[in-house]
Amino acid sequence: MSQKLRLISLFFCSLSALALHGQSDRYRYDRDLLSKEFYAGRREAFRALMPDSSVAVFFANPERNRSNDVDFQYSQDPDFYYLSGHPEPNAMLIVFKEKVRIDTMLTNELIFVQERNPSKESWTGRRLGPAGVRSFLGFSNVFVNTQFMEVPINFNRFKKVFYPEFRDDIRDDKNDKGDLFSLVNNFRMLLKRVPEKDSYELRQFMCRLREVKTSEEMHLLRKAIQISCQAHAELMRALDSTMTEYQVQAMIEYGFKVRGSEYPGYPTIVGSGENSCILHYIENRRSFRKNDILVLDAGAEYHGYTADITRSLPVNGKFSAEQRIIYDIVYDAQMAGIKACLKGNEFRAAHKAAMEVVGRRLKQLGIIKDEKEANRYFFHGTSHYLGLDVHDAGLYGKLQPGNVITVEPGIYIPGGSDCDKKWWNIGIRIEDDILITNGAPENLSGSLPSNADEIERLMEKKSFFVMPLKEK
Ligand code: GLY
Ligand code: MN
Repeated sequence: MSQKLRLISLFFCSLSALALHGQSDRYRYDRDLLSKEFYAGRREAFRALMPDSSVAVFFANPERNRSNDVDFQYSQDPDFYYLSGHPEPNAMLIVFKEKVRIDTMLTNELIFVQERNPSKESWTGRRLGPAGVRSFLGFSNVFVNTQFMEVPINFNRFKKVFYPEFRDDIRDDKNDKGDLFSLVNNFRMLLKRVPEKDSYELRQFMCRLREVKTSEEMHLLRKAIQISCQAHAELMRALDSTMTEYQVQAMIEYGFKVRGSEYPGYPTIVGSGENSCILHYIENRRSFRKNDILVLDAGAEYHGYTADITRSLPVNGKFSAEQRIIYDIVYDAQMAGIKACLKGNEFRAAHKAAMEVVGRRLKQLGIIKDEKEANRYFFHGTSHYLGLDVHDAGLYGKLQPGNVITVEPGIYIPGGSDCDKKWWNIGIRIEDDILITNGAPENLSGSLPSNADEIERLMEKKSFFVMPLKEK
């Protein structure tokens, strides 16, 4: 083999598994990450929910393969992240209700993490390693993941062992005795001696905690939402009927990234014309036609917390008469929904209020004959919790201060629907992020116009985006 070929082959062999998970470097560069005290506080709050003599085990998310030797961008399991702040794979967290003696340690928590490996890191980026987990995340008892079976934890001594449902999408790295596959298998082996499991109860605990945002979390969530509002506003000024769905995606995601957001919190939905009637349309390949309506559902993620905002826009800057009529119904439905976001109300209160408006008004227009048929055109829920996940963990019981939920009614009338064809291919959704308080709901994304007149006014303004995009 020639020297050059050898070098190329070395390059590709070493690149086997291009895993996109360089998130540990955020601890070097970002100064507004949640503190180790925050994560310790979340574990204390979790412990307070645990029954006496119990232990809970959490695992990092598996890495997922995209194809061949390329993985998808790594994203941590939100429960694991919520309790640890640790962004890396192949890790395991154990939380004990009471302090327990293990070997010479007296502790109520242990974490097992990947070790540092300078030669791997020169390809993949830095890892925290045990020392980093100690200093950045504040854990005292940190082990390398290969040591799990050497730490004598007797799960039999606990009345209850909590652990999440085991996943079946974990791949086995035969060369790594501390990978997630090994951690889970070794834990299962030990568990054989344990009579009881209850992943449902563990999920309930995590929902109870995660659905009430702390002030530290709110700081990041507000930032994600502010970035998103600014990017949406900029996009409204730039939008033009000669553009394409993918150009809108590029522009709004540029708006997120340029303000410090790491990623979109979910795949950006840019549905124009007929695509406005597909709830989660993410192909984003269509070119606009002059009178299209556009549903743009896009939210920035900032340090793990994501916004979720939808606006429906006339691509030429002016709603048609029919678009405007449907738009105003959705707008009024959303206002009624937001008004119902009061502490003590059932989670579904916003949905009921919004659905009532949609049913009544679609009937007045003759689009439906009976209000009960409204779910033909408004066929999704109005709200979900928001936080580390775009559809965040929560109990869906009564609303309480600290809940952040979306209010996102919509009306979607696909071509061929059983109504006058002047309504066809109009899809409208308006979505804002609402904080439940002790008093009136706070619309966290309220700085972004949603009223039809305000949107038209904003769309008249010039954008700083120079449009090299128009094709001759
Ligand atoms: N933003 C997408 C959804 O809420 O389903
Ligand atoms: Mn949503």
